[in-house]
Amino acid sequence: MEKVLILDFGSQYTQLIARKVRELNVFSEIQPFNHAYNKIENNSDIKALILSGGPANVYGEQAYHCDSRIFDLNIPILGICYGLQHIAFSLRGAVDPAAQREYGRAHLQIDDDTDLFSDIISPTRVWMSHADYLTKLPDGFTVLAHTDNSPIAAIGHPEKKIYGLQFHPEVHHTTEGKRILRNFLYKISGFEGAWTPQSFIESTIEKIRERVGDKKVLLALSGGVDSSVAAALLYKAIGNQLQCIFVDTGLLRHREAEQVMRVFQENLHLNLTPVTARAIFLSKLDNVIDPEEKRKIIGRTFIEIFETEAKRLGTFHFLAQGTLYPDVIESVSFKGPSATIKSHHNVGGLPEKMNFELLEPFRELFKDEVRKVGRELGLPEEIIGRHPFPGPGLAVRTIGKITPARLEILRKADSIFSDELKQAKLYDKIWQAFCVLLPIQTVGVMGDERTYENVLALRAVTSTDGMTADWYHLPYDFLGRVSTRIINEIKGINRVVYDVSSKPPATIEWE
Ligand code: XMP
Repeated sequence: MEKVLILDFGSQYTQLIARKVRELNVFSEIQPFNHAYNKIENNSDIKALILSGGPANVYGEQAYHCDSRIFDLNIPILGICYGLQHIAFSLRGAVDPAAQREYGRAHLQIDDDTDLFSDIISPTRVWMSHADYLTKLPDGFTVLAHTDNSPIAAIGHPEKKIYGLQFHPEVHHTTEGKRILRNFLYKISGFEGAWTPQSFIESTIEKIRERVGDKKVLLALSGGVDSSVAAALLYKAIGNQLQCIFVDTGLLRHREAEQVMRVFQENLHLNLTPVTARAIFLSKLDNVIDPEEKRKIIGRTFIEIFETEAKRLGTFHFLAQGTLYPDVIESVSFKGPSATIKSHHNVGGLPEKMNFELLEPFRELFKDEVRKVGRELGLPEEIIGRHPFPGPGLAVRTIGKITPARLEILRKADSIFSDELKQAKLYDKIWQAFCVLLPIQTVGVMGDERTYENVLALRAVTSTDGMTADWYHLPYDFLGRVSTRIINEIKGINRVVYDVSSKPPATIEWE
């Protein structure tokens, strides 16, 4: 399949470039900047290269350099920020520290609108983030655009099809960023644009059938987006050779178990075995307060239950998992200064313990692509659009001791919060919203009576991948409405607070 190879020089935006390219129906793959030259040269699927931004100075000792033979490969290349500077540096232009760092919005004046900037009206708003700039063009290149601070803000060599941008076309603030990328992909590189959810589904179904043959596949269905879409896709590929297990840990959200059974068993008719294990989880979590201890107990218990159930259900050759591309990149990609630290994983350990072959149909997809595939497969919005939910569930949102009564309070509050978000049409604008029950009691007054009840925290954040996040600016009247409803309707809560911390330095979950 034709694709763009993105060489990563450590930019915080590299994954965003990959996603924007895919939104334009072109498949993209990220590799570290020092990806072996022969792997590029000998791969006829690679129809274009993008060099990402990065934190280094291209002339410095710590600079990252890719193999400069790529510039003679005769495939189109687009350099972004550091990528542009790398092109200039490698092809004997000059890059120097700018008198003034340029960060934020700038107005780009287009000097040449024949190819990269075709159909874009000048000036146009772009997003800059750099301390160095080009002071001399490499041979054969011309200036395509400039800003007040950067006389050379975009360059091109139309015969060699090598282009460079000082600004970031992949970020939202660059108004015509998508059109610039589209021009590069379609006008300059000649892509067909065959990467669509349908094409992914068709080719993946074929691959799954070929690999699985007549063997059986097991899947732990959590009701979250990734495992749900994986279940739907596998069911379409191999029907009843797929067996799903849903473990009700008692740590799920309001009516979640019912919903999963309704959607997957009643509507989709796939082989789904529910296991009710609330009592086991609760007894093992009795009096456990430490968050990591909670996680370990839940992970271990989950594996035990899953293992027993799998044995009871027969012999399975494969275990399907909804691993996504960001996890894959994490493990192969260049860890630059901008590399993020992932502290949590889904309940793991199943494949190692049980001798399964792994089936991971979404290893190359981003979460938004999984959602598109899910919609294409006909999964309802209540599943596709739902916020991510941690494996250990409400256990890590019930700070301190976990008891059935405290879980019930939290479940009710969470359900009010999410209903209100949906009604106010805010739910889809937020990456994750939830309640946290604190182990603190405060004094209140209800009617004429003094109360001494629990504090509940509301959390709502925006994020693209959960690695970094910002608190969502919920309107005051909305917060007021949710607080009033929770305090009035749920016995046991007399105070509601809103969490206004971003990640870092806080995390999304409280535990
Ligand atoms: P934090 O709290 O680290 O969360 O900012 C980042 C994202 O990961 C989710 N999360 C978990 N997911 N098992 C999971 O499967 C866990 O133990 C776990 N802890 C946090 C969290 O909900 C957020 O989306």
